[in-house]
This record gives sequence, C-alpha cells and structure tokens, in this order.
Amino acid sequence: MTDMTASSPRPSPVRVGLIGAGRMGSFHGETLARRIPDAQLIVVADPAPGAAERLASVLGARATTDTTDLLDDSEVDAVVIASAAAFHTDLVVGAAAAGKAVFCEKPMALTLADADRAIEAARSAGVPLQVGFNRRFAPDFRAARDVVAAGGVGTPQLMRSITRDRGIVTDTVRRDADLFRDAYTGELAAFVEAVRTGATPQVTGEDARGALAIALACIASVKTGRPVHIDEVEKQ
Ligand SMILES: NC(=O)c1ccc[n+]([C@@H]2O[C@H](COP(=O)([O-])OP(=O)(O)OC[C@H]3O[C@@H](n4cnc5c(N)ncnc54)[C@H](O)[C@@H]3O)[C@@H](O)[C@H]2O)c1
Repeated sequence: MTDMTASSPRPSPVRVGLIGAGRMGSFHGETLARRIPDAQLIVVADPAPGAAERLASVLGARATTDTTDLLDDSEVDAVVIASAAAFHTDLVVGAAAAGKAVFCEKPMALTLADADRAIEAARSAGVPLQVGFNRRFAPDFRAARDVVAAGGVGTPQLMRSITRDRGIVTDTVRRDADLFRDAYTGELAAFVEAVRTGATPQVTGEDARGALAIALACIASVKTGRPVHIDEVEKQ
C-alpha cells in the first residue's frame, strides 16, 4: 500500500475510460466517478446511439460511440470493459495493445483459445489485467474463504451457494447491484490501486480462464449426461 501520510502529495488519479454504458457499465461508471477517489472517469464509449452520452453527461465525462477513439486517447490510463460479452476478448486485446491497464467484466472470453489470447495480449504489452469476479470482494464471501483457508471447516467437500438474481422467470426484491454494491466498489478500488502501485491484480486473466474451463466442462456434462473432466475441455 502507498504511504498516504498528511504531508505526502496525493498521487494523481488513475484516468479511466469506460467501454459499455449498459446496466453494468452505468453502475461501474457511477462507482468510478463517485465512489473511488483515486479514479477519474474521463470518457465513456458505447456504439448504441445516445447510450454513452446519457451516462457521461451525468458523470462529467466525455462520450463517444467509437471505442477506437477511447483506446487512442493518450489521457486514458486504464480501461473498464462492460460491453456485451461477445466483444470482451477483442476489447481486452485492443486495450492492451494500446498500452492501457485493463479491467474486464466477466466473462473475459467464451472459449479457452480466446482466454489465452486475452492473457497473452496483456502479458506481451506488460499491462495489468483484472477480471470482474466481484464476489472475491464481498465481505461475507471473503470471510468464508478465510475460514476455509484457516482450516476452520476441515477439508471442504462441497460448497453450495445460491443467489437469486432478477430475471430469466420471477422478479426479485434486490438487484445484483443492490446485493453486491460494496463488492463491485471493492473490485474497482482494488484495480485502481493495482494500476497506481504496479501490484499484480487480485483477480487475473488466468483466474478467468480457470473458471471458464470449469463452466465449459459443466456445459459439456449437461449436454452428454456424464461427468466431464476439465482435461477433456482443455483438449478440445
Ligand atoms: N459481475 C457481475 O456480477 C455482472 C453482472 C451483470 C453483468 N455482468 C457482465 O457485464 C457485461 C454487460 O452486461 P449488462 O447487463 O450491462 O448488459 P447491457 O446489455 O445492459 O449493456 C451492454 C452494453 O454494451 C454495449 N456494447 C455492445 N457492443 C459493444 C462494443 N463492441 N463496444 C462497446 N460497447 C458495446 C451495448 O450497446 C450496451 O449498452 C456482460 O458481459 C455481463 O456478463 C457482470
């Protein structure tokens, strides 16, 4: 952690460009602009007519419908990607090639080949890459993890976690942004801190790749009706 004594000058904020001004992007934009003092939201990009402008105007940032403008902007230190998932990998690769630190919403990729492409792009550009695994920053999940790590429950055999999100059959009282407000803020604060200090992000591209491999094995298992080892999806 940086020494923040009263006499030290406040380090310049990390200047962030936000890609995607939909539901999640709007929440992240508000978090960056209002809840993280070390971040400054300077530009929002979204190809949908009016989407970036609507968000940026409330948050005091510039707006563009062209993500290339944002990636070419030398004032942007770091990019937060909250576009539709199909575009994540290409945006990570583009942002890394432009020398920006990258935070990407989950999923970072839809195939293991694309996950490798994103990881390699960040590695070869030498930029930090963090993925939006917000629950790692939720105080209750973190406390449970610490208990397990300290041996408090012996060797875990099974973890069951159910969160009922608003959607796909029955509406719910709280949205994910209500349930995980602190976790969403915590993950972006940790990203900004990693960019400022040069520390390795707490959630890496490799973590996203690991989660994707498990998800692909689960999908294959549902489709085939049999257990599927992670090795099998790795070989595909
Ligand atoms: N971490 C979480 O808990 C969590 C929760 C919700 C959503 N998400 C993820 O956040 C992402 C966005 O979800 P959402 O609910 O905000 O979707 P959304 O449909 O509300 O918003 C997506 C936005 O991306 C824009 N967009 C599409 N293509 C783009 C491109 N090439 N460049 C820039 N912008 C582009 C769209 O115009 C739209 O405004 C998804 O990947 C989703 O999986 C994560």
